[in-house]
Parts: sequence; C-alpha cells; structure tokens
Amino acid sequence: MKSSIPSAPPSMSTSADASAAPPGATRDGTRAAQARVWDIPVRVFHWLLVALFAVSWYTGKNGGVDEMTWHMWSGSALLALVVFRVVWGVVGSTSARFSHFLYGPKAAAEYANGLLRRRPPHYLGHTPLGGWMVVVMLASLLLQCATGLFANDDIITEGPFFAWVSKETSDWLTTIHKWNFDVLLILGGVHTAAVLYYLIVLRENLALSMFTGRKPLPAGAPDPQYRFVGAGIALVAGALIAGAVYALVW
Ligand code: HEM
Ligand code: HEM
Repeated sequence: MKSSIPSAPPSMSTSADASAAPPGATRDGTRAAQARVWDIPVRVFHWLLVALFAVSWYTGKNGGVDEMTWHMWSGSALLALVVFRVVWGVVGSTSARFSHFLYGPKAAAEYANGLLRRRPPHYLGHTPLGGWMVVVMLASLLLQCATGLFANDDIITEGPFFAWVSKETSDWLTTIHKWNFDVLLILGGVHTAAVLYYLIVLRENLALSMFTGRKPLPAGAPDPQYRFVGAGIALVAGALIAGAVYALVW
C-alpha cells in the first residue's frame, strides 16, 4: 500500500535506540524534540467518537422514548463520523492514511515480539498492531451503525430502514446489533488497556498526544515532517458526509 507521500515507518527507531531513553526523555534529562503527528481532524474525530460512543451506549441500554430518540441521533452522528474517518484515511494527512499505517504480517509479528520483550520498535504514527486494531474498530463501528438502521425494540423504536426488510430480518439484525456492541466493548477495553500499558510500562503518553497532536521523538531520531491536509477540507468533507447521512436517515 503506497501513497505519493512518504509511507515508510518514519521515525522508526530500533529497539536499541528505544532502550537508550523512552520517547519524551533524553539521557541527560533535557526535554526531547516533539514532532507533529495527528492533525486536527483526527483528534476531533477521536474525542467526538468517544463521546458519541458513550451517549449511544447509555441511551441504547436505557431504552426509554427520549433515550431512544437520542440514540438515533448519536448513532447517526457516529455513522457520519466513521464514514468521514474512512474517507480521511484515503485523502487525509500522512499519519491519517491507511496506506501509511497498514503494515504486513511480518512487521506486525516483529512488533508483537518487541512488545512482549517490552522493547517495541518506535513508530511515530499507529504501530503495525495498532493500525490493524484501528481498522477492526472502524469496521465494527460501521457494522453497529448499519445494523442499528434496521433494528427494532419490539415496542416503540424502529431504525429508519426498518420498513425496508421483513420483521424477521430486522430481529436478526437487532441481535447482531446487540452482540456486536459486546464486541465493541471488548475492542474498546483492549484499546484503552493498550494505551494504559504504553503509559505505565513504556512511559509514553499516547492519550496526551491525541489532544496535542504532538509526540516526543526518541533521542536522535529526525522529525519525518509529515504532510498535513488543511482542516478546512476536512470541514467541507465532514459537512457533506453529515448532510448525506441526515438525508438518508431522516
Ligand atoms: C444509525 C445508528 C443506530 C441506530 C439507528 C440504532 C438503533 C437501535 C435500536 C432500534 C435499538 C433497540 C434494540 C432493542 O432494544 O431490541 C438499539 C439498541 C442498542 N444500540 Fe443502537 N443504533 C444505532 C447505533 C448504535 C451505536 C453506534 C451503538 C454503540 C456504540 C449502539 C448501541 C446500542 C445498544 C447498547 C443497544 C441496547 C442493546 C441491548 O438491549 O442490549 N447503537 N439501537
Ligand atoms: C477514554 C478512552 C480512550 C482513550 C484514552 C483512547 C486513546 C486513544 C489514543 C491515544 C489513540 C492513538 C493511538 C496511537 O497513538 O496510535 C487512539 C486512537 C483511536 N481510538 Fe481511542 N481511546 C479511547 C477510547 C476509544 C473508544 C471507546 C474507541 C471506539 C470504540 C476508540 C477508537 C479509536 C480509533 C478508531 C483510533 C484511531 C484514530 C485515528 O487514526 O483516527 N477509542 N485512541
């Protein structure tokens, strides 16, 4: 998977480099250089995703009339958000692109091996394992939204596409909606556990980087100078996608 912009693992240092000092610290105690990694659209995407996930979870499980109205809104907003992220994965900034963070099985195995020895090679963007986890989470979120569109609760709530299918098909999709939510909880749990592992064991604060957009470089590693696509383009793309989802769902 190649794009016109650099897609090799930029600022990937060897285990030996990583062992010299964790990213963010140098051996003489001075502050390490920081590189710009995540663009604004990716950061806004991520924290909106977390908020909408929480709202969809609460409203889906509490299922009253008002809650389910909110559930339709939060679920549809999440659908627009995930579609946007897929598009941004093709046209967005370097670190946002699938072509940049999807590595083959060899790199993934090497990375897993490094993790087990607590000395994984350093990647500035998503790691080979993290990249595939991102794809799995996005796919599971899309499945959740797609099945929700056809779901029903046997009482008052019907997804906007309920009438397109038979009641049996809707019931079957509702079951998948419920099961896949448990899958999402597991994925979200593994994902946050990984972020905590990096923080506590590897001493790298990935969550902070998702706010600031910056990551410390390992000592001596050059800044790969990622290419950043303007947030205005993301805003236009996001508005178009949100409009299309709104038109489809209401
Ligand atoms: C277009 C988006 C969505 C629509 C139209 C939708 C629709 C529905 C409907 C109709 C139900 C009622 C099913 C029942 O109680 O038998 C439901 C339940 C639920 N939904 Fe969604 N949903 C959407 C997205 C989501 C998302 C993104 C999440 C979570 C991230 C989610 C989580 C849940 C949960 C946890 C339940 C309760 C399941 C249970 O009773 O165990 N939904 N949804
Ligand atoms: C409070 C809980 C959470 C924290 C602290 C957190 C933190 C993070 C961090 C630090 C990253 C970047 C990882 C890296 O450096 O490679 C990330 C990426 C991501 N997270 Fe979370 N996360 C949380 C909850 C969730 C949940 C619940 C989901 C979805 C079920 C989720 C989905 C994603 C996705 C899809 C990405 C990829 C972002 C992108 O490339 O656009 N996160 N998260």
